[in-house]
Amino acid sequence: MRNRGDRRMALNKQTLVGKVISVSGNVVSVKMVESLKSTMPVIDGLVYRVGQIGSFLRIPLGYANLYGIVSKAGADAIPETLVQTLIREGKPISGDRWMTLVLVGERVGGVFERGVTQFPTAEDEVHLVTLDDLNIIYGGLDERTSIAVGNISVSESLPARLELDRLVTRHCAVLGATGSGKSNTVAILLEAIASGNFNSSRILLVDPHGEYNETLQQYSKVYKVGADVKRGESELSIPFWALPFDELLSTFPGYINDQQTDYIRQKVLARKLDAVAYLSTKPNIAAITSDSPIPFSLKELWYTLDDFERQTFEENRKPETAPQMLVKKGDPDKLISNQYKPHSAGGGSPFMNFEAKGILGFLDAVKNRMIDQRFSFLYSPGDLSPDLKGKTKKDLDTLLAEWLGHDRPITILDLSGVPAEVMAAISGALLKIVYDALFWGQGLPVGGRLQPLLLVLEEAHNYLKAGVASISSRTVQTIAKEGRKYGVGLLLVTQRPTELDETVLSQCGTVLALRMTNKGDRGHVSAAVQDELQDIVSLLPSLRTGEGLVMGEAVRIPSRIRFRRCAHAPKSRDPEVSSCWSEKRPNVKDYEKTVECWRNQSFKSK
Ligand SMILES: Nc1ncnc2c1ncn2[C@@H]1O[C@H](COP(=O)(O)OP(=O)(O)OP(=O)(O)O)[C@@H](O)[C@H]1O
Ligand SMILES: [Mg+2]
Repeated sequence: MRNRGDRRMALNKQTLVGKVISVSGNVVSVKMVESLKSTMPVIDGLVYRVGQIGSFLRIPLGYANLYGIVSKAGADAIPETLVQTLIREGKPISGDRWMTLVLVGERVGGVFERGVTQFPTAEDEVHLVTLDDLNIIYGGLDERTSIAVGNISVSESLPARLELDRLVTRHCAVLGATGSGKSNTVAILLEAIASGNFNSSRILLVDPHGEYNETLQQYSKVYKVGADVKRGESELSIPFWALPFDELLSTFPGYINDQQTDYIRQKVLARKLDAVAYLSTKPNIAAITSDSPIPFSLKELWYTLDDFERQTFEENRKPETAPQMLVKKGDPDKLISNQYKPHSAGGGSPFMNFEAKGILGFLDAVKNRMIDQRFSFLYSPGDLSPDLKGKTKKDLDTLLAEWLGHDRPITILDLSGVPAEVMAAISGALLKIVYDALFWGQGLPVGGRLQPLLLVLEEAHNYLKAGVASISSRTVQTIAKEGRKYGVGLLLVTQRPTELDETVLSQCGTVLALRMTNKGDRGHVSAAVQDELQDIVSLLPSLRTGEGLVMGEAVRIPSRIRFRRCAHAPKSRDPEVSSCWSEKRPNVKDYEKTVECWRNQSFKSK
């Protein structure tokens, strides 16, 4: 028996494929051996392909084995010096037997480690990597600190695992063209975390299109503007007073100049200072600015500012001392203005307020926004709505406890009901609320250091437009630079890497690059990849749906991974045209329901 086995090994384990010709840093030029009859040898019944870009090769060095990734093959891989010589000698350049390897790791005994400590020399043998090698390269990740997301593309039997600690704290990005499988990948990642043994994992997913509600239903709590309570969703409120002043102003249409802005800023500050009296713990007055997240009454502010603009007087004196000509008192709660006798056109009594700021048009726009139902999640945020004095039933801690403190691992903030014109300000504000809370709470058990948070941003290019200084870009940039220290990790998802701020992308320690056909986008990915592996990026256009190159901190070596398919696909899944079109035509009456949904700004399913 033993002899037969040995003989079979001798027959089938011809893994030698080439010899090292030259070494430069960790880049190795390899020439295939003449004895290799085919580039598709069969070993142990398995067909191998030699020279595939992205595949591995092994260089044995005594007790150790070095592993490299094929980055070039064919004519491109011929060493430059040889090309020059051949040209000089007028000989033909045939590249069919050349490969370039980039050394990525080393194995001593049964342990594989990233990086190499020794280098090959000319004439060293280069071998194919067998399943046993792959098991050692990819295996060995501790199940308690890693998550399984699919399998290594070359072999169905090799599970692909990502190191969780590095994935979260060093930030990561999921990039790929539309339909390449990003949302599925995100769902798989989150599901793997949520279904693992991470009892107090904490993930906040900002979902602009409400794609994930069903996919991650089992593990998540959903907050949504216009929530469907029957489906277990909760109403999303974002108190306007938690927005920094400039962002709050940006939620209103209309333009005011710098002086007018300053005037309103002072009024807001004064109200925040007054409302401190109602907070259960009083902050230091000196630390309060118009940006502080302290409640104040927007209605009362509007009413007072509006009143000042409308006042008329019997005598031409300073507004504070002149008797007013009020006709009918308004109501701040109902946003009704005070009515005054119209000022005379000829310069006599009633006199107009010569100190008015000229912001009546703007205030009208503010009022219209406040009564617009679509914005009530912002200006009338339930128990977080201040009364006219600035007192609220509940404070920001309830909001944080709702978003971050429930017993499920994932919180989905579904922003599909947020009007597009305020989306940027709102998403930026909520990121800031969350990050600031974890930053300032860093010493507490709920702070980011003791219970880290993974922030997932779908359609990240919307928050992070390169060159746009919005609250969301500022916050995400801060998290990218400093979040690691305070336990806040980012997972950015985008189909347009070119639109993403480059500094933020460069802070992403792990890149999961799915199929990408656009050259500019690929350029952005290669900026995040180590120099010698640039050529691997050329694989991106040919990846299958749901397949990605994973590079960086969370994997030991750049890996081509086939992600699992999520059992409940995200809503963005492609409609199956041929099967939909094979069915009976739907009832035209459904167009009536369509309009109803549209008007109610809510979805219905059949
Ligand atoms: N690993 C996978 N295996 C098989 N099919 C997949 C896989 N991942 C995604 N798909 C399919 O590909 C389609 C698109 O996937 P997905 O919605 O995740 O793409 P996307 O990159 O998020 O697109 P978009 O940029 O438009 O949001 C879906 O129909 C999905 O079922
Ligand atoms: Mg998607």
